[in-house]
Amino acid sequence: MNTATIKFEAFESLKNEDCQQRILKAKKTLGNEIIILGHHYQNEEVYRHADLAGDSLKLAKYVENLDAKYIVYLGVHFMAEVANILSRPGQITVLPDLSAGCSMADMANLAKVERSYRELNKVLNFDNSITPITYINSAADLKAFCGEHEGIVCTSTNAAKILNWAFSQKEKVLFFPDQNLGRWTGHSMGIPLDLMPVWDPDLPLGGLTEEQIINAKVLLWKGHCAVHQMFRLEHIETFRKQHPDGFVISHPESPFEVCLNSDFVGSTDFILNTIKNAEHGTKWLVGTELNLVNRLANEMKPENKLVQFMSHVVCECSTMARIDPQHLAWTLENIINGNPVNIIKVPNKEAQLAKLTLDKMLEVS
Ligand code: 13P
Ligand code: SF4
Repeated sequence: MNTATIKFEAFESLKNEDCQQRILKAKKTLGNEIIILGHHYQNEEVYRHADLAGDSLKLAKYVENLDAKYIVYLGVHFMAEVANILSRPGQITVLPDLSAGCSMADMANLAKVERSYRELNKVLNFDNSITPITYINSAADLKAFCGEHEGIVCTSTNAAKILNWAFSQKEKVLFFPDQNLGRWTGHSMGIPLDLMPVWDPDLPLGGLTEEQIINAKVLLWKGHCAVHQMFRLEHIETFRKQHPDGFVISHPESPFEVCLNSDFVGSTDFILNTIKNAEHGTKWLVGTELNLVNRLANEMKPENKLVQFMSHVVCECSTMARIDPQHLAWTLENIINGNPVNIIKVPNKEAQLAKLTLDKMLEVS
């Protein structure tokens, strides 16, 4: 066995068709030793190699039952961290390009969350009335923070169940990093918008008055997804004029007024299942990432369903797109070579605390 790492330069200028052949060959050689997980936002050229596909909750659940030695994750960094945390000892998680991050996850970091939590507790006289909830789109150390402070993780699928659980424990929630998911979920549960103020971690007291903090039910971290932020109410209005019998479906990371004016709001799996199960000939405007919408539009053509992307501009998740056939072929061949690259390994203590919150989430949802 050759132990030298194969450098990425050897793959950089490989044509996509050549990569496809090499990926198929590598998968055949590795057999049951690897399993490839793929998020719905991945580009078709790598998505087609996924053994299991899903939204972030489904993929996290799959990990618990995998036997393969190598878990190759076609997704972004926080997803691969979750896979590593939930995998068995000895299993190795690989992310084909380490620069595939999530810009929303980067909008919260441990130092800011710790400071915010301290400031809030000071205003609340340290009365232990606030539960930290982190969206799964966050770094492992924030999940560990929640594990240490009686908090929990949520995904776009289970956010309402998780908020309900949190309110059965304590009065208030600090929700990070996505204000849109937090606001939409709180609103769907009947919480008035003025009891869900935005907490700006870069301002003293989050830019709020003490009174606003004392009255708040959910403090929404000032974070958002740059991709979903592009969707606008005007897109929905134009579609409804053109197709009065059509339906609008959006991901809850979309702006509040987009969710409010959609017929359905839910996770990537929910969006796929709703449209796949809809009647033939129905028309859909979809507010989520472009790769998912394009794939679905093609799949639905035989059923004569119109699946239209919500924005006029290209809203691809540019970090997800970094996982390309070149990187996938490169990582697989290094595994064959006995020298896996791009291993995602969360430090033990952090992983244990993060696992606490992930297990709690899986139990509650
Ligand atoms: P899902 O959990 O719905 O797959 O969403 C993940 C994500 O990053 C959406 O932008
Ligand atoms: Fe992150 Fe947005 Fe990309 Fe989802 S679509 S992975 S939230 S940047």
